[in-house]
Amino acid sequence: MGRKSLCLLAASLLLAYYIYSPIPENIGEPWTLMALNAVFRTIGHVATIAEKLGLAHYMDVLMVITNVESTAPVSDEKVAVTDTAFNGVPVRLYLPKGQPDTLKRAVIFVHGGGWCVGGAAMKAYDHLSRLTSEKLNAVVVSVEYRLAPKYHFPIQFEDVYTMAKYFLQSDVLAHYKVDPSRVCIAGDSAGGNLAAAVTQQLLHDSDNKVQLKIQVLFYPALQTIDFDLPSYRDNRDMPVLPKSLMLRFFSEYFTTDPSLMEAMETGQHVPPEASHLFKFVNWSNWLPEKFKKGHVYTVPKHGNSKMGQKYPGLLDPRAAPLLVDDVKLHGLPLTYVVTCEYDVLRDDGIMYASRLREVGVPVIHEHVEDAVHGVLLFTSSPFILSAGQKMVHNYLELLNENL
Ligand SMILES: *[C@@H]1O[C@H](CO)[C@@H](O)[C@H](O)[C@H]1NC(C)=O
Repeated sequence: MGRKSLCLLAASLLLAYYIYSPIPENIGEPWTLMALNAVFRTIGHVATIAEKLGLAHYMDVLMVITNVESTAPVSDEKVAVTDTAFNGVPVRLYLPKGQPDTLKRAVIFVHGGGWCVGGAAMKAYDHLSRLTSEKLNAVVVSVEYRLAPKYHFPIQFEDVYTMAKYFLQSDVLAHYKVDPSRVCIAGDSAGGNLAAAVTQQLLHDSDNKVQLKIQVLFYPALQTIDFDLPSYRDNRDMPVLPKSLMLRFFSEYFTTDPSLMEAMETGQHVPPEASHLFKFVNWSNWLPEKFKKGHVYTVPKHGNSKMGQKYPGLLDPRAAPLLVDDVKLHGLPLTYVVTCEYDVLRDDGIMYASRLREVGVPVIHEHVEDAVHGVLLFTSSPFILSAGQKMVHNYLELLNENL
């Protein structure tokens, strides 16, 4: 064998080693997921290097995916799509065409991306919103909220809230021919976090006259206290959203100061005066037996008392909707929670479902046994995951029956 072919062999082995990653056995498309993971890991490595060299912020490099995936608003014979603004907040608006001129349903959609990346214009989200509008004869408002690291909490929350409150005004709904009793909010991941927070706040806002009929939370992030839940332990290195990236997203949501991420990694980010919140994320109580996965509950650690003052948003229910009393959960609308088995955020969604059920909120919980985090984004080429396609199908069916 010549030197050239030896080099080639070594390079191929290295590449195979790099692409190959252990994938749960029951995943439908292991090679698609491995390829996807290799792309994500590569971008992650580039981002780390770029940041170390001082060339770009980590999230600016990740944002490249969002920009590459973004599409212009394109109308067709079924849906009119425009980019506009509601009370100063940019939205992509989908209006169904050519259907009976009765009052319509409406969906407020909040995209994911860890409060740092993602956008309503991304192909996957644009496609989902278009499909929702067309299949349900619904007005879909997909919100383009501002992102970290440029903007921190509560800007992301406030953008979505401002927009939702504007849209829910009777005259605005009437203008778009929307039936006020048939409006829902939906979001995935960080978008699920924002959707849950907005739904809670709207319920107790005396200026707000129209309440949402349904909230849909796809694998939402819902708490900032315990990053040692069984789902965090079991899935810390899973494709798409490893624990390290989730903590980075969370810490960027609140601050650019890297000390928060360091404290989160060792579980020392919660000030002692916040111990009264531990009961809301006590998975020993809130996870059904089958989701404990043989893990033993340990009480979250404390950090020092400066944490609370340094990062005031950290335990705010608008950032962590699980951290509220039952009183705040009473009266929430029908909640559809989707969780995925191989996801660090799995237990956040399951605990919220348990807590909502306990106070009498109608809950439909769908747990997907063969999916990683973020599958909703992978419903078209080049990366198609059937779990994502099924999720979209079930979602539209559920809205069609209940909204
Ligand atoms: C968590 O729940 C378990 C079981 O109910 C209980 O023994 C424990 O004291 C709780 N811990 C906290 C911090 O709430």
